[in-house]
Amino acid sequence: MRTESILLTGGLGFIGSHTAVALKNHFKQIVIIDDLSNSVMNNYYRLKSLVGDCLILYKADIASQNVIDKIFLSHNIKAVIHYAGLKAVGESIIFPAKYYYKNVYSTKLLFEVLKKNKITNLIFSSSATVYGKPLYLAIDESHPVKAINPYGQNKIDIEQMIFNDPYFQEQCSVKILRYFNPIGAHPSGLIGDDPKGIPNNIMPIILKVATQEHQELKIFGNDYQTHDGTGIRDYIHIMDLVEGHVKALDYNKKGIIVFNLGTGKGFSVLDLINTFQEVNKVKIPYSFVERRSGDVDMVFANPDRAKTTLGFEALRSLQSMCFDAWNFVKKK
Ligand code: UFG
Repeated sequence: MRTESILLTGGLGFIGSHTAVALKNHFKQIVIIDDLSNSVMNNYYRLKSLVGDCLILYKADIASQNVIDKIFLSHNIKAVIHYAGLKAVGESIIFPAKYYYKNVYSTKLLFEVLKKNKITNLIFSSSATVYGKPLYLAIDESHPVKAINPYGQNKIDIEQMIFNDPYFQEQCSVKILRYFNPIGAHPSGLIGDDPKGIPNNIMPIILKVATQEHQELKIFGNDYQTHDGTGIRDYIHIMDLVEGHVKALDYNKKGIIVFNLGTGKGFSVLDLINTFQEVNKVKIPYSFVERRSGDVDMVFANPDRAKTTLGFEALRSLQSMCFDAWNFVKKK
């Protein structure tokens, strides 16, 4: 009989919602706290149809102390995955104070509650953005960190908060997961990447072009040092990424450990567009524009630590990422 529950902060977002599905049979209750700042209630109803009655939503900000306290009083929370936060890089440059408050300060408050409630199994949702401009490839977890924007600095600040805290060091099993570029969707097509407002990341933009809401994709730069001149990234299927979370949750060794979650393979923007067009038989018109400030030629992970320590390997193909992403939009 399962008696334990898990808390997912920001659990209605792209990664959190897919994790909730993957954890369905692992916990008695999957409790989400989400302020819906980048999600809508419809995402919750769709998620509920996949996860069932064990899914419980608290519609609130993680900084709402009374709500957080109520969650820990009402549920037997044994593990926490902390996703909640703002994630638009461009916006973080315009509103750095807001980003600091919502990402770093709110996390500090959350961590105090975790300590008070003696939570010892924590996953923090970090990002490969912490590596900044790569000094070498493939990027392993020992690569130095250096923020190139406030959002990246927020992730570094939170990682440091974890590393410097004796409670996390001595009494917990903390897994810091640095994601590369998650795309794709759940194969049911019920949940996927559905950001509010104008999307920033490439796959949601490709999908807007595919549905003709946007006229074309603007490719940022065609003069990078890559095989076709466009930027290379390590795209990972969201279903692989969340399997990495499940493995990380099961890894209960005391201490703080960082894992890259990526495939170790890089694909260019043109590789991605061509694959999307071939797999889905949909045309993606594009044009080349200036490089986007802060972008780099090439980023891909060394995923060895997750493989050897967690037994996790991301194996789904770029084809499957493109197929599932489009399947989600077609079914919306
Ligand atoms: N790109 C375009 N046109 C667009 C959007 C993106 O050409 O309209 C290109 C970018 O130049 C880049 C690639 O598509 O070469 C991927 O760009 P994304 O914005 O999708 O992703 P990034 O690699 O820039 O950043 C993402 C997340 C970060 C995260 C990082 C981890 O946005 O939060 O991956 O590597 F930290």
